Amino acid sequence: MKGIFPIEGFKAMETPFYYYNTELLRQTLSTINIEAGKHEQFRVHYAIKANANPKLLNIISHAGLGADCVSGGEIKAAIDAGFSRDKIVYAGVGKSDWEINIGIDNEIQCFNVESVPELEVINEIASARGKVANVAFRINPNVGAHTHANITTGLAENKFGIAMRDMENVIVLSLKMKNINFHGLHFHIGSQILDMGDFEALCNRINDLLCQLERHHIKVETINVGGGLGVDYRHPNRMPMPDFKAYFDTYAKHLKLREGQTLHFELGRAVVAQCGSLITKVLYVKEGATKKFVIVDAGMTDLIRPALYNAYHKIENITYDGEKQTYDVVGPICESSDVFAKAIDLDECHRGDLIAIRSAGAYGEIMASQYNCRRLPSGYVTEDIR
Ligand code: LLP
Repeated sequence: MKGIFPIEGFKAMETPFYYYNTELLRQTLSTINIEAGKHEQFRVHYAIKANANPKLLNIISHAGLGADCVSGGEIKAAIDAGFSRDKIVYAGVGKSDWEINIGIDNEIQCFNVESVPELEVINEIASARGKVANVAFRINPNVGAHTHANITTGLAENKFGIAMRDMENVIVLSLKMKNINFHGLHFHIGSQILDMGDFEALCNRINDLLCQLERHHIKVETINVGGGLGVDYRHPNRMPMPDFKAYFDTYAKHLKLREGQTLHFELGRAVVAQCGSLITKVLYVKEGATKKFVIVDAGMTDLIRPALYNAYHKIENITYDGEKQTYDVVGPICESSDVFAKAIDLDECHRGDLIAIRSAGAYGEIMASQYNCRRLPSGYVTEDIR
């Protein structure tokens, strides 16, 4: 075995595939439960969008987390994996009627509503089924986050949420609707956030909004601050988990919760990113005019983050220790952006070597596509490998 991977077991397996270290996942969940558990009003949900592999969902639901879903398919996946229905919340700017039906029929905890027309449709559908739907309003807090522009969501220019100036009117409107029960407020400012100051800014904004609502005698039971906590993509070995203590303590210190209020978190990446790697095989080592290419059998169809966000993932040759060489690591897809890394140093690569692309447990397998008529990658957990 080289490093943390069961290489012998890998040798017989068809590549590319995702490998999830379930021991690390369990440690991560236990740390989350310990750190969040220090604050009585805190509740942690897992954002299914980060990875819906049923084996991982099962472990996460067993750890007692709730689920944050963004589609009818995710609600079904959450229920199948054993998440309790009264811990499932459903967000998204464009909920179709069939998806709203799934939420209503399963009496999920809450719809995170993003517009008045959506509120009206949920009220109509709930009324037709003789039910009352709990709703929270997603408010666009106009708080920036120091992260990639494509994964910033809480600015006024983004499509998400209801503008702060409309918040009160929308709540008042919902209070008049027979089949709607106003529950709380929802926020999410972005993803891969490492600066606790960004979360602090969100807390300050929420404090102002709560005071504003209190002046109008509007009671808020739940506050959902979304997800967004980032991971250390450069050092997956040294930092296999984010600093959950600092994260939860930031909210405990800066958000002025009222008695009886619960504070919900929807963490995706922070839960699953570091436990997953994409394992791929070297097909060819090619000498270009000015550089060397390692051509692997995984492509942007298996892990799109480098092509889509220019994201960094640490890459390792896990079968061969040798002198370092400088390579571009590229996939087989007919697109120039099918590049995992440029000019990186790797132990000398040969045809057949296994390569691990690290920190790929979040937004990896779930964002895979079949472009070029490729097979979707499989996902294996520690217990699957002999
Ligand atoms: N809650 C809401 C409302 C969200 O939109 C998201 C992520 C989360 C929670 C979970 O965020 P996390 O804790 O994972 O940061 N595909 C991109 C990330 C997109 C995130 C979308 N929303 C990537 O690969 O970086």
